[in-house]
Amino acid sequence: MQINSRRSMVAGNWKMNGDKALVKQMKKQLEKASLENMDAVICPPFPYLGMFTDSIKLGAQNMSQFDSGAHTGEVSVSMLKEVGCSYIIIGHSERREDNFESNEIVAQKVEKALNADLTPILCFGEPEDIRDDGTLFTYIATQLDAVLKQVGIAQFAKIVLAYEPIWAIGTGKTASPEQAQEVHAFVRGHLAKLDSDIAAKIVILYGGSVKGSNAEELFSQADVDGGLIGGASLNPDDFLSICLAANQ
Ligand code: 13P
Repeated sequence: MQINSRRSMVAGNWKMNGDKALVKQMKKQLEKASLENMDAVICPPFPYLGMFTDSIKLGAQNMSQFDSGAHTGEVSVSMLKEVGCSYIIIGHSERREDNFESNEIVAQKVEKALNADLTPILCFGEPEDIRDDGTLFTYIATQLDAVLKQVGIAQFAKIVLAYEPIWAIGTGKTASPEQAQEVHAFVRGHLAKLDSDIAAKIVILYGGSVKGSNAEELFSQADVDGGLIGGASLNPDDFLSICLAANQ
């Protein structure tokens, strides 16, 4: 239930999963759903982006920090716009790990996306050892500050944030609603030092083992505005039940 001016959002990050059959099923599911109070976004692998219609909000899972040219295997922001994307996931922990994307590369990508009027879904979050050793908030502030330094607080306002504790991704070990709320509130407080209005308005999603059964409790936290969903976004019924939890 939203008691603030922020619009709820649920984005499905299919990662390297799915096929044409799932595209068809998900389109059918979302086209018949009435989700007036939230934005549902699907982020499928690149080959399937062009198979969705305008009625479904689309996001990509990655983009190049370069505009065009000799970058084999990369996809540019203008290409993503041309195939109908309005969102782009940037800084996911899997890309930070598998593809060595530093805070600085993440910041460059965010700037490029914003310049092209694509909304970045900026992921941040800690590995378990950082939470255990008590440096969680410094770690998260460093991730966010790299982007703030690159784009400034006024542009930062156009970003959707996604807190994804690495230990909760794909593990079934969801952060408790209190753990998620604590970090989301810290992030708003951190941004409020620069601009309290922007801090109050920015959308912050939670990601990490969100399911139909825990979505409502997570989304009812004061500073949790929806979710970034991995595994459960591959099942149209599960994904819809999470969207409905955000639609209340
Ligand atoms: P799971 O929902 O599978 O834990 O994945 C979360 C995630 O990484 C979304 O980007």
